[in-house]
This record gives sequence, structure tokens and C-alpha cells, in this order.
Amino acid sequence: MLSFLIVYLMLLATESPTFNNMLKKKIGYNEAYSLKTPEDSKKLYKKWAKTYDKEFAVNSNYLSPKKICIYFNKYSRKTDTPILDVGAGTGLVGEFLYKKGNKKIIGIDISSEMLNEAKLKGCYSELIEADITKKIPLKNDSIGAIVSAGTFTHGHVGADAFDELLRITKPGGLFVLSINSKVFIKGGFKKKFLKIKNKISCPIFKEFNAHGKNKKFNEIKIFASIFRKN
Ligand SMILES: C[S@@+](CC[C@H](N)C(=O)[O-])C[C@H]1O[C@@H](n2cnc3c(N)ncnc32)[C@H](O)[C@@H]1O
Repeated sequence: MLSFLIVYLMLLATESPTFNNMLKKKIGYNEAYSLKTPEDSKKLYKKWAKTYDKEFAVNSNYLSPKKICIYFNKYSRKTDTPILDVGAGTGLVGEFLYKKGNKKIIGIDISSEMLNEAKLKGCYSELIEADITKKIPLKNDSIGAIVSAGTFTHGHVGADAFDELLRITKPGGLFVLSINSKVFIKGGFKKKFLKIKNKISCPIFKEFNAHGKNKKFNEIKIFASIFRKN
């Protein structure tokens, strides 16, 4: 009888959300950095969308969206509009920009689930589901500024996406991008900056930590890359 009761209680426990949450492995950089294709990104961010803000961004003291907005505010002019947030995800960059008074912000991301979370924040005037490594569904010279956090990194989007981003940006438009320092050379960003040097102003690079005080992620350094399209 007692053993029956114990088995019954164990079955009840495995049905409880708290027990299931305890078993669930948190998603993090190991999975994110080992992505290989845009399809891999879609699959990972579909699973991650609901917990990304609380379990990842808050718990790890993720700073990149705020830092990118601080640089945007420092270098932008009133004419740098509309703003395109590349790899907008759940909308952390949009949220900071909106609070600072920017009202025409477009978010673009490959993951519909991440964009659904961004929509809930109510700070984007438009959200576009698209793979930015392909042709971007926006007109030539139509965007005033490109911002991005956490997207130019291991296994995500490479330097070749710059060509399409330059096509859709207005002459004089501002770029404020986070580029993971570890992919800057290995991922072809340095080479790309040299290749497009006649199409852009001399870039300014500012190094910062992707995370605030957090032993586990101390080594993740970002180059905020700031320039304008000529
Ligand atoms: C680490 S998250 C960053 C999200 C947000 N910018 C932030 O800082 O919290 C990377 C985002 O890039 C998006 N992404 C990855 N590959 C992409 C691609 N090829 N085209 C568009 N978005 C992509 C993912 O779906 C994900 O939302």
C-alpha cells in the first residue's frame, strides 16, 4: 500500500510544472554559439523565445542592448530615422530606443517566436520576419539607421550581410552594431570593413563587456562598431 502511495505521489510530482521546470536545462551560449545555419537559428530561438528575457538577459546581466542604445544616442542625429533593429529578437534594443523617444523603429528577425515577444513590448512600428543573410525585403536607401545587438556573433550572422544593409540604408545613415570580438577577424568582419572602406565613414570601435558583473560571461567582449554610409 505504502509503495503504491509513493509511486502515485511521484507520478503527481512529474506532472507538476515546478518539477518539470527543475528538469528543464536552461538554454544559453553553448547552444547559441554552436549554430551553423539560419535554419538552426530558427529552431533554437523558437524554443528560447519565452524564457530569453528572464532566464538569459536578466539572470546573466546582459548589457549589449543598453550599450548599443547608449552609443546610438551619442552618435545619432534627428534625421537618422527610421531605425532598423537587426536580429531584434524579443525587442530589448527597441525597448531602450523607444524609452529615449525614438518612435519609428522597425524590427527584423528570422524567428517569428522572438518577434511575437518583441510585439508585446509595443515599441516597434513594424516587425519583419526575414533572414537577413538573404535579400532583405526593404527598398534601397529607405532606412535612416541600423542598430543591432547580439546578432553578429558565433554561428549567427556574418559580415556578408553588410552588403544588403548598406543597400537599404539612406546615404549618410548611421550604423551602430555589436560585433563579438572573437568573430571580428575569424568571421571576416575586419576584411569586410577594408573591402567597403570607400562606401562608409571611418568606423569607430568601442569595446565593452556583453555582460555586467558575471563571472561566467566575463570574457565575452563586444566591439560596438559605429559608422555612416557615405
Ligand atoms: C542573441 S539574439 C539577440 C536578440 C536581441 N537583439 C538582443 O540583443 O537581445 C540573436 C537574434 O538574431 C536572430 N537571427 C539569427 N540569425 C538570423 C538571420 N539569419 N536573419 C535574421 N535574424 C537572425 C535570432 O533569431 C535572434 O533573435
